[in-house]
Amino acid sequence: MSDKPLVRYETEDGIAIITVDNPPVNALSPGVPEGIIDGVRRANADPAVRAIVLIGAGRSFIAGADIRQFGTGRVRPPIGQRSHDILDASEKPVVAAIHGFALGGGLENAMGCNYRIAARSAKVGLPEVLIGILPGGGGTQRLPRVAGPKRALEMIVSGRHVPAPEALGYGILDKVVEDSADLRAEAVAFAKSVADKRPLPRISERSDKLQEAKDEPGMFDAMRKSIARRARNQKAPYNCIAAVEAACTLPFQEGLAREQALFQELENADEARALRYAFFAEREVAKLPDIPADTPIKDIKTAAVVGAGTMGGGIAMSFADFGFPVRVLEVTQEALDRGMQRIRSNYETSVKRGSLAADEMERRFARIQPVTSYDDIADADVVIEVVFEEIPVKQEVFGKLDAVMKPGALLLTNTSAIDIDKMANATKRPQDVAGSHFFSPANVMKLLEVVKGSASSPEVLATTMALGRKIGKISAMAGNCDGFVANRSRAPFNTEMAILLEEGCLPEQVDKVMVDFGYPMGPFAVGDLSGLDIGYAGRRRRAAENPNYRKLPISDRIVEMGRHGQKTGAGWYRYEKGDRTPHPDPEVARVIKEVAAEMGVEQRSFTDEEILRRLLFSSVNEACKILEEGIAYRASDIDVMWLHGFGFPRYRGGLMYWADQIGVRAVYDQISRWHQQYGERWAPAKLLRELADSNTPFRNAKAG
Ligand code: 3HC
Repeated sequence: MSDKPLVRYETEDGIAIITVDNPPVNALSPGVPEGIIDGVRRANADPAVRAIVLIGAGRSFIAGADIRQFGTGRVRPPIGQRSHDILDASEKPVVAAIHGFALGGGLENAMGCNYRIAARSAKVGLPEVLIGILPGGGGTQRLPRVAGPKRALEMIVSGRHVPAPEALGYGILDKVVEDSADLRAEAVAFAKSVADKRPLPRISERSDKLQEAKDEPGMFDAMRKSIARRARNQKAPYNCIAAVEAACTLPFQEGLAREQALFQELENADEARALRYAFFAEREVAKLPDIPADTPIKDIKTAAVVGAGTMGGGIAMSFADFGFPVRVLEVTQEALDRGMQRIRSNYETSVKRGSLAADEMERRFARIQPVTSYDDIADADVVIEVVFEEIPVKQEVFGKLDAVMKPGALLLTNTSAIDIDKMANATKRPQDVAGSHFFSPANVMKLLEVVKGSASSPEVLATTMALGRKIGKISAMAGNCDGFVANRSRAPFNTEMAILLEEGCLPEQVDKVMVDFGYPMGPFAVGDLSGLDIGYAGRRRRAAENPNYRKLPISDRIVEMGRHGQKTGAGWYRYEKGDRTPHPDPEVARVIKEVAAEMGVEQRSFTDEEILRRLLFSSVNEACKILEEGIAYRASDIDVMWLHGFGFPRYRGGLMYWADQIGVRAVYDQISRWHQQYGERWAPAKLLRELADSNTPFRNAKAG
């Protein structure tokens, strides 16, 4: 630790300046709140000081409490003695000067000040709910008072970061200055201009905006109702609502006490622990142990996508959404037109839903340029191949890319299963080739799996990881094997889903278990959405390659009946015309019984827990094999992939974190029993046995 103080105090022409300097994001680690309190007291005691500025050094104001301190048994100061209380009680005006982020405890301290000015690019918010807690530093009491209860509810329950100009409109900020201005100088000038104004404006003393809740008392129940589906199994969003409600019904000090009680219910709960784990896992995943940190990152300004199918279109949209000009190549005009039409209609759906403004849609759409010749994409900095999943087709595309693309361009493939080296070897520059595996729908799902070919250069891999982040994705590195990390760890789950049917489950029963667990949709309904013919083709390929491949006769029969999912009006479920609601289908139940009888499998009933564990334990076992082979760096990377590629409920941390809650020994014992009962597909991974023997949690497992 350096001896540099975490909080500096200086005075300038009658203004005290308190600077928080705790890199990288000025979190409120031990010593920071104390430093702020000292500064406020010192300034109040100094007759030469007329007003105070609170500012952050480096890239941000204050990003909130130090998340690493949660759950460590730390003692919080009592109400009245916390930094925001002391700021609020200052007899000299305090101006918060915000740049970068004022999040959580950062915004709470800023709201304890009398005035807030911010740089135009700054963002403010109370994102505590995203880590399973609520704003416990007065945020639930002050935000409704300054922005109104309705806006406060929306911000606190979503946790979103609000841009400064918007926050100015809500009354959270008093002034926004241009980024080019000297924020500190602006804040000092502002402080001078208000130094003699009395009474001091204190958010805690305001009640005018709370009238909104008296006029519309149903807003809290309406909010609870609106989040019911999304927030099922969770407590934090509801405690957030209860705390804002308390702000509207209780005097300020009592509201703070209520906030505190509601906060304490959350801090050490499973939900908050899992969400904290996910927060740090998402940061860890960016760290690449085998690639030097100083590896140069190429500057990517333009992109191209080869293939305008559903996936290619989604990838093009991901680039356009983040400001990149992108060319989409199809060799036939007809396929190109169809692809562009699909992109347009996806954007139009967002506009209709209200999640995208019409003019913004036009700006994004204009960034996507349709082309029919390889020469038209030759100068792109990165090209992503998204053509049919067949090796010769892909190799031909890579041969053409090698011929036209400018030297140094990144040549990426979106294959979900094919060996990257097969494409790399179709070029004379295999070092420039890597996998960039998006998840469907590509413009929505956040995971980008970056796949290392045997020749991929560190520069290409580091650049692809960084590029993913630039287009709003969470990039995670995977080794090169069938299915890479995400799909490979998920494959046994898919197999078990089908086998459960043979043994007596129905799709709707399995789906209900997984939705109750927290998935947004059940896996059979997801299959219908993405199309069952894709899995069918994959199974046929694998069966041809491997004589021991476990066939899935029920799944095959469903597809062979022409039931390819929503697109054919029937799959695991039946669909009414123009409606995506899955309806259980007696015909599917009949087929299941029929095929099971042909196979001679006896049908029985299952508990929900058995269904859940059959699906997820099979994947935990595979994940152990992946780690053992060094295909993934860390168990937590696999968790990040499940959260962002497959919709695994975030408040359960991820596949491996969830398994840890059951216990590595219990997981091993169950898998061993299933090994006895079902045979080789349940053979426990070597790493799983080692972890069980040494009682090491999954989350501490590292690549072998
Ligand atoms: N506590 C501890 N560490 C934090 C932190 C925090 N609040 N915020 C960021 N960090 C760490 C990260 O772990 C990372 O560490 P690493 O380099 O060792 O991996 C480093 O700071 C940089 O973070 P990012 O990589 O996330 O940097 P970005 O620039 O991409 O994002 C950010 C910056 C938007 C501020 C993002 O870090 C973030 O969202 N932080 C969390 C904000 C938050 O949740 N605040 C509320 C905390 S709870 C609270 O305040 C409770 C109060 O109400 C009582």
